[in-house]
Amino acid sequence: MFDVILKNAALSYNNRVVFKDLNLTLEGGQWTCLLGGSGVGKTSLLRFIAGLSTAKGLKTSGTVFCEDHKVLEDRFAWMSQQDSLLPWFNVLENVTLGSRLRNSIFKRNKLSPEDRSRAENIISKVGLANKANELPQNLSGGQRQRVALARTLMEDKPLVLMDEPFGALDAITRLNLQDLACELLQNRTVMLITHDPLEALRLGHHIYHLQGNPATLTEAIIPPGNTPRSLEDRELMTLQGELLERLRQEEVCA
Ligand SMILES: Nc1ncnc2c1ncn2[C@@H]1O[C@H](COP(=O)(O)OP(=O)(O)OP(=O)(O)O)[C@@H](O)[C@H]1O
Ligand SMILES: [Mg+2]
Repeated sequence: MFDVILKNAALSYNNRVVFKDLNLTLEGGQWTCLLGGSGVGKTSLLRFIAGLSTAKGLKTSGTVFCEDHKVLEDRFAWMSQQDSLLPWFNVLENVTLGSRLRNSIFKRNKLSPEDRSRAENIISKVGLANKANELPQNLSGGQRQRVALARTLMEDKPLVLMDEPFGALDAITRLNLQDLACELLQNRTVMLITHDPLEALRLGHHIYHLQGNPATLTEAIIPPGNTPRSLEDRELMTLQGELLERLRQEEVCA
């Protein structure tokens, strides 16, 4: 698994600098978590890494490259807070959307037997085997986010960029989905943006805090132990307290 390296990244919208001189390495096969107040620049940074910085008035400089010097372009999957499921497609059709879109225009609705069986396998791994033919409107928020996770897994990319993927869920569903994502995305390189210090501490190998204006990254926190870390881990709770305090301080200063 390759590292993804960000060097001297800078980004501004209409001359308002969001961040500059940012350096970050996403270590191959590990989870990097990013915390930070609203509007500090987390999504902008993630989009920058993905090469999706296209908004009007936006200027960027700096480089993103892979340690193996191959292009990143077709080697990442994206998962966001909004599940972005297409309402007229059922679960299986949503999960296989990427592969169907890559088919020629005449075969868009045809799924190869291999893709179908892989999709069914993934849908069953996320616990939705009995919902494969349901439309998104008939699913709960947690189930919809499971479909989004299945779609991300179906893409089978080495790098997964996640922008607050569990943000809209209740606490228990969220913990369960964290565990599931941790299990199913093991050995992938993951960058996870979250507002929840506990989520970062349970899942992250490296945790960064983006703060300030222009924003800078703090030194990485590297929690001990294997992921997903237990809620009963005392050190985790202490770190959570420290991080919450730090984030609260940032709100006061903003
Ligand atoms: N297309 C745009 N045009 C102009 N300014 C933008 C645009 N997108 C974002 N911004 C500004 O850039 C800053 C960073 O936005 P960004 O979405 O990266 O923040 P964020 O940390 O992801 O926030 P949140 O936690 O609320 O999702 C904000 O001040 C925002 O208003
Ligand atoms: Mg954001």
